[in-house]
Amino acid sequence: MINRRKFLESAAALGIIGALPTKVLKAGNSKTSLGKSYKLPIILSTWSHGIGANDESMKVLESGGSVIDAVEKGVMIPEGDPNNHSVGLGGYPDITGKVTLDASIMGPDGNAGGVCYLENIVHPISVARKVMEDTPHVLLSGSGALKFALEKGIKEEDLLTEEAIKGWKEVLKKENKTPEINWEEKHNELHDTIGLIAIDTKSDLAGACTTSGLAAKLRGRVGDSPIIGAGLYVDNEIGAATATGMGELVMKTLGSFLVVEMMRNGASPQEACEKAIKRIVDKVLNHKKYQIGLLALSKTGEIGAYSIQPGFYYALFAEGENKLFKAKSYYKIHTNQ
Ligand code: GLY
Repeated sequence: MINRRKFLESAAALGIIGALPTKVLKAGNSKTSLGKSYKLPIILSTWSHGIGANDESMKVLESGGSVIDAVEKGVMIPEGDPNNHSVGLGGYPDITGKVTLDASIMGPDGNAGGVCYLENIVHPISVARKVMEDTPHVLLSGSGALKFALEKGIKEEDLLTEEAIKGWKEVLKKENKTPEINWEEKHNELHDTIGLIAIDTKSDLAGACTTSGLAAKLRGRVGDSPIIGAGLYVDNEIGAATATGMGELVMKTLGSFLVVEMMRNGASPQEACEKAIKRIVDKVLNHKKYQIGLLALSKTGEIGAYSIQPGFYYALFAEGENKLFKAKSYYKIHTNQ
């Protein structure tokens, strides 16, 4: 597990020292980020690892890069961080001790790509982008995705770190394997899927979503993150949405697609996120055991954020400031404890 000192070091290395969770969590106030249209560009992403990702994304946009470059490069920051145990390198392994990764990317032209059940590749998002750009397909899985990555010149690497093995062993010891919600808030540890959505100054939208999935998941389990419409969806006429948390709940309701469709039908991004969480609450029987966080960004520069349980944080880079906010939630106190 990452401790406070290591966290400070990694945050400093990532250049996010001014935006450490404990500092910004206190400063965060969801009221200030909702219900207004921000000037473009805007980058919006899940959890505190979103701060470093947003910074990188904004750098790409500011140096004239495309919005698809911006979302890819942004999420590569948590993917490459060995102290982040839910994305890329250093991710917690599945029940058999193998790290398997899921990722997806979608651009303003409606093109999309994903990989799932992929091993030994630090940046699954870059493989997802190559699936999108270099094949007629949307999703490659497992050994096929790895073979494709290697053919594209991407190097194989062992992703399992000593620290991840230690944390994984602790998870295996637990009788109750239901994932602990809001891990980041409780353990001050970077955790969970990074979903990042962005709009550039030309009003073009894109998104990227990447994760190592649930710690100690069953071998072969794939979550919502690589599934277009579940973990990520972009419609350049309307807006973009992404999801984090227990992927099965998002998959059962096609959460990100639902948010964008609600925006198409006139809902604001905030209303759309709230309605999509309500859909999970209404339709998924065991939802009280889990956390889901949804983010949305509209073509007009409004944002939305909402979760089932309290404690979902999101990073917003808009109008020159990159800050962490706490989302509003359906339940006001945790229902899984
Ligand atoms: N949301 C990520 C997962 O469930 O794998």
